[in-house]
Amino acid sequence: MSNESSIESTLQELRSFPPRSSADLGMAAWHVGSMEQYRQMHRRSVEDPEGFWAEVASDLHWFQPWSRVLEWRPPDVEWFVGGRTNMCYNCVDRQVAGGHGGETAIAWEGEPMPGGKPELRRLTYAELKEQTSRLANALRSMGVKKGDVVTIYMGMVPELPVAMLACARIGAAHSVIFGGFSSQAIVDRVHDAQSQVIITCDGAWRRGKVVPLKENVDTACAELDGTPAEVRHVVTVKRCGNEVAWRPGRDVWFADVVAAASDSCPCEPMDAEDMLFLLYTSGSTGKPKGIIHTTGGYMVYTYLTSKLVFNLIPDTGQLYWCTADIGWITGHSYIVYGLLPNRVPTLMYEGAPNFPGEDRFWDIIERHRVTQFYTAPTAIRAFMKWGSQHPEAHDLSSLKVLGTVGEPINPEAWMWYHKAIGGERCPIVDTWWQTETGGQLITPLPGCTPTKPGSCTLPFFGADPAIVNDQGEEQEPNKGGLLVLRKPWPGMLRGVRGDRARFISTYFSRVHDPKTGEPYYFTGDGARRDADGYFWIMGRVDDVINVSGHRLGTMEVESALVSHAGVVEAAVVGMPHDIKGTGIAAFVTLEPSFKPYDKASTDKLKDDLARHVSRLIGAIARPDMIRFTDALPKTRSGKIMRRLLRSVAAGDSNISQDTTTLEDLSVLAKLQTDEEG
Ligand code: WT7
Repeated sequence: MSNESSIESTLQELRSFPPRSSADLGMAAWHVGSMEQYRQMHRRSVEDPEGFWAEVASDLHWFQPWSRVLEWRPPDVEWFVGGRTNMCYNCVDRQVAGGHGGETAIAWEGEPMPGGKPELRRLTYAELKEQTSRLANALRSMGVKKGDVVTIYMGMVPELPVAMLACARIGAAHSVIFGGFSSQAIVDRVHDAQSQVIITCDGAWRRGKVVPLKENVDTACAELDGTPAEVRHVVTVKRCGNEVAWRPGRDVWFADVVAAASDSCPCEPMDAEDMLFLLYTSGSTGKPKGIIHTTGGYMVYTYLTSKLVFNLIPDTGQLYWCTADIGWITGHSYIVYGLLPNRVPTLMYEGAPNFPGEDRFWDIIERHRVTQFYTAPTAIRAFMKWGSQHPEAHDLSSLKVLGTVGEPINPEAWMWYHKAIGGERCPIVDTWWQTETGGQLITPLPGCTPTKPGSCTLPFFGADPAIVNDQGEEQEPNKGGLLVLRKPWPGMLRGVRGDRARFISTYFSRVHDPKTGEPYYFTGDGARRDADGYFWIMGRVDDVINVSGHRLGTMEVESALVSHAGVVEAAVVGMPHDIKGTGIAAFVTLEPSFKPYDKASTDKLKDDLARHVSRLIGAIARPDMIRFTDALPKTRSGKIMRRLLRSVAAGDSNISQDTTTLEDLSVLAKLQTDEEG
């Protein structure tokens, strides 16, 4: 069975944009300045990965050198075997030791400012060293040891990277939970990770309102009390000053424990393959999986991709800004871990893009003189809708490189980004990667790759992606197929927490090398490669949807719906959405006593269900369209006909056209063949 027909591509994008000279852009130089250099380096990186990556790793600090660069026994991989290093050391202490302690590591802007001045903070490498040392000691005094998992559920404040780096300092792994997720998400993740300490904030500013983070943590802790996953310590940053409940003995203020702790805490020498962090992401079952990333390979991979993809050069006045939340992999790799070892300051912004006005981002770029800007297609589409007058009112001439990530960018949004933000001057790097890949795998390099709107272009060094069919055979140009990686790369995941079987079945069992039988890494994406070898991502081929660039399992939303008393069965599929790229369509069959009888009761029930999902998962999972149906269309073997539902959803994505009567989708299903599934 294959989904090839659903990933037939219709894209016909013929425009191509050549790279610019670095002088043209006022960039000191391009790290990779010609396609010839790119091709030669790429060839070497796949033919001699050990030599290539050893050279890169030598830029960084190791307490003990590795004995072997690569050990690949698929699906298991080890990089820099026997090497000892520390991520926090390379992000922070190494810069201080190099005489750069007084330089800005993290620049930060808070959200509040109706009428007032922007609230700014700067953390130097020396301050980061002190803060991470103190917090690391405080965590140790709470009993956190090497190998333990610390949960972090915070807004975008500087204490968030401090918390991550403090964990890395002492060899504890962190599990950052996006602040937009509900308390149930905290319960599930804390339970799965057996995490006894949570670091949070009283609240987070979002569009002028306070998101009650500590309250959500309290709700989660109450549920975990008395279980083996009971939370012992909650460390809270005071950010918004909102009132919070307090449990003495468990709850402490971040500022208090940091002030009380010693500022001396040498970095723990970690094995290259010790876990650095867990990050939960959705898959095709109802339960998010804890993706495991380790220390050495991830560090080297995020260091090099950041450097080359954004052309980072210290001491040239660069200020890099990625708008992602650190709760996602983009923030881990391209706000914190890839940036600090490159010694280019990373800007964090706390709040919403449209607060107080729809020009907030452009205002930030102008005031801070941002040089590299990394955002998501969904954000770009929102900016387009808000209008070009907003960027036009600001001086964006500091920008040199623009990036996008998270979902395919439609050529129209690409062109708008190029013109309205990039002034037709800045190269755009459309970077394809995943939580599991740790870093960017298919991406242009800004100084050499000619770009085509909508294509993530060519493989990064060490990456060997291919478009194959289910037999592992490479597809001819422009034929849709499955996107796989045929070789290991340093940033790849090392496992799924507590679920080896899922690790293997999700990533290493669908496609194999037709000659050797060795498993390929399967991405879950469908794509095609054009005659120039450029990759065009067509979207997920599993039951995962990409809503506003954030991955969501349709099963998770279905289980949330079914947990509502009125719902018997639910099927969730993606549907086209102007801003989100993919929106959420839910088809629901109801308990007879819940069936609505008029427009008002229909609307009320839909609203109830949408809120229910929001409460259980988070606002990003709120369905955009809910349709009630007497029965879900199924094949004879009982499989829901998702393809049919997708076309129903795509054909009628306008909620207002909904009738109040229940529809009989089974009638439609009868008209379809029984092939699906
Ligand atoms: C999925 C991974 C990587 C950080 C953000 C999302 C889609 C990601 C692109 C891109 C087309 C993209 C894929 C991928 N995706 N980047 N440049 N072009 N699609 O991380 O939540 O792990 O999702 O996002 O479908 O599989 P994630």
